[in-house]
Amino acid sequence: MQGFTDEDFQRLHTYIRKCFGIDLHNKKQLIVSRLSNTVTAEGFNGFHEYVEEILRGQNKELISGMLNKLTTNYTYFLREKEHFDFLQNIILPELEKRHQGDKCLSIWSAGCSSGEEPYTISMYLKEYFARKQGNWDLRILATDISQNILNSAMNPVYGMDSISKLPPAWQSKYFVKKPDGNLTISPDIRNNVIFRPFNLLDTPHWKRPFDLIFCRNVMIYFDQPTKDALVNRFYQVTVPGGWFFIGHSEGLTKQTCPYAYIEPAIYQKK
Ligand SMILES: C[S@@+](CC[C@H](N)C(=O)[O-])C[C@H]1O[C@@H](n2cnc3c(N)ncnc32)[C@H](O)[C@@H]1O
Repeated sequence: MQGFTDEDFQRLHTYIRKCFGIDLHNKKQLIVSRLSNTVTAEGFNGFHEYVEEILRGQNKELISGMLNKLTTNYTYFLREKEHFDFLQNIILPELEKRHQGDKCLSIWSAGCSSGEEPYTISMYLKEYFARKQGNWDLRILATDISQNILNSAMNPVYGMDSISKLPPAWQSKYFVKKPDGNLTISPDIRNNVIFRPFNLLDTPHWKRPFDLIFCRNVMIYFDQPTKDALVNRFYQVTVPGGWFFIGHSEGLTKQTCPYAYIEPAIYQKK
């Protein structure tokens, strides 16, 4: 197989940043290690032919396969517990008051990976609203650009390590053990979550604005202008008074951020 020239690397990482936001300008080795097998398996003579085909932009399957390989999907249940404490203690009591009329909450997990984040949210909603009167409509939209990772989120199988941060009572209540020892999620937690493929560089087309948006540990892979534009798009689809969570290792630029800062990694549309 022919090697990966600096010129083809440049063309490929520029295309990926422009179309999907992911900044790989210093990740040539990562691209080589994650895509070499695909280049061979798909019958290309080398990276040059592969890059040409990707840049034509017509081969959706090849592009989707590339995204499956290049995205970083690391996640686990109850990641960054501070967010879930804030959800339970501040946001849910407030949303309960606000939505007494329609009894309907709208939450978006943007960059949901294999489902641990939206399923954790679903558990918190279930716990909170179990004690409340009436039938609450608690749907969580969960989106990701990688079709493979969405498939595993929709057919969830988890190991013990992934759920170790959850309270033991939730581990037994909300998971079902499979014959091979792995775990799957109970239907009542699963049913609140709707998974959809979505590229965060596209304009959101969802029917309702959101009371709360999680976009955690996704924008770390984006450059600053892409991040700023994305935060503005999130802002457009947040209800006034709604919240926005980012990962604790990320930051938003004070000068350009339309949300008000509440506490680390928590923002609100005032
Ligand atoms: C590290 S995971 C974060 C999972 C979860 N939010 C968390 O904090 O644990 C980042 C996810 O963002 C997704 N992602 C990256 N670029 C994206 C884009 N342009 N549109 C949608 N999702 C994207 C990746 O596929 C990956 O599953």
